Amino acid sequence: FDAVDVIRAKRDRDELSDGQIDWVVDAYTRGVVADEQMSALAMAILLNGMSRREIARWTDAMIRTGRRMDWSGVGRPTTDKHSTGGVGDKITLPLAPTVAACGAAVPQLSGRGLGHTGGTLDKLESIPGWRASLSADQMLGVLRDTGAVVCAAGDDLAPADKKLYALRDVTGTVEAIPLIASSIMSKKIAEGTGALVLDVKVGSGAFMKDVESARELAETMVALGTGAGVRTVALLTNMETPLGLTAGNALEVRESVEVLSGGGPADVVELTVRLAREMLAAAGVDGADPADALKDGSAMDVWRRMISAQGGDPDASLPAARETHTVLAPADGVLTSLDAYRVGVAAWRLGAGRTRKDEPVQAAAGVELHAKPGAAVRAGEPLLTLHTDEPARFERAFEALSGAFVVAPEGSRPDLPPLVIDRIG
Ligand code: URA
Repeated sequence: FDAVDVIRAKRDRDELSDGQIDWVVDAYTRGVVADEQMSALAMAILLNGMSRREIARWTDAMIRTGRRMDWSGVGRPTTDKHSTGGVGDKITLPLAPTVAACGAAVPQLSGRGLGHTGGTLDKLESIPGWRASLSADQMLGVLRDTGAVVCAAGDDLAPADKKLYALRDVTGTVEAIPLIASSIMSKKIAEGTGALVLDVKVGSGAFMKDVESARELAETMVALGTGAGVRTVALLTNMETPLGLTAGNALEVRESVEVLSGGGPADVVELTVRLAREMLAAAGVDGADPADALKDGSAMDVWRRMISAQGGDPDASLPAARETHTVLAPADGVLTSLDAYRVGVAAWRLGAGRTRKDEPVQAAAGVELHAKPGAAVRAGEPLLTLHTDEPARFERAFEALSGAFVVAPEGSRPDLPPLVIDRIG
């Protein structure tokens, strides 16, 4: 095979053969196909698309560049969730222990935040002592002992994706459904979970801004999972406004612990319970009800054991920011919108996220909301509190928040999309 022939074929809208796909993915991972050649191919894929057959083969070729994990020794059905990324999306934190408390095992390889969206590992790392890196044997040990493990993926899990994702990030080729779907699903299939629930976010704070493209991404990923023998379903969920009342690392851990204590914001509880039921159903486990596991302390018990198993102290106080600034409601009325993207950018600029890979994040930085869309507010009441260790960061966070919320006259009715928009699979 020849890289230029493969690029030309996709440029001219031909379907790539299985042999071409296997070769180009493997040769790129080994450094035989150059970055500039893969960039051209990624752009041709973005512009001309791929058939379902091509996407399935591409995903499989990416999986075969690394190892596929095996949890047959765990003794319980495995099930996992993947979110396409949002603002305030801390759902994995209450969800994984809840599902484990209900009888399934959750082997979650998770990621870090980039840009305005948060990452689960960054959140958990705000717990003193907690470690994201585990060997495969350690992962199996935590999974056996506690029923849930959330940790970083090793370098041998779909290495083609690590290289290709970094390249897409700098070549304007992230936003291609075949490439997003194969990137996410290669990692989740290689992770070895038996069942998978995809939380595909829709709205300003998400990758997919409209329901049609979110549905296409969800259908593509469900087909890939099902074709690879993973029982896969997807929910399309609202990301026009942040989930819960916090966006930031330690702030989101605090809120997750509230949910695990039987309290917490209604939307976080609702989505946790809904996703937990889907994960258990996909795994064929019909034991305890997730809503009960949050109320009776059994999910909290798993959380404490899973945090301790990775070196964390579940009783330690979480870091608090050195500086805070509270934004007040400008008028009496109804909060009709609070934009997820702008809140996410503000949290990022306050130090909760990174602008370059491998940059450290501030554990305590972020945004705390005092009202959600639909709430009545009074002039001068707190609307948001910004948290950071570096006050010089406030200015750029204020800029990000310009136009982030609307307080409409009393009696106004906001047009709020439902939390769960659709289910696919
Ligand atoms: N998340 C991924 O892992 N890959 C993508 O391409 C997009 C989001």
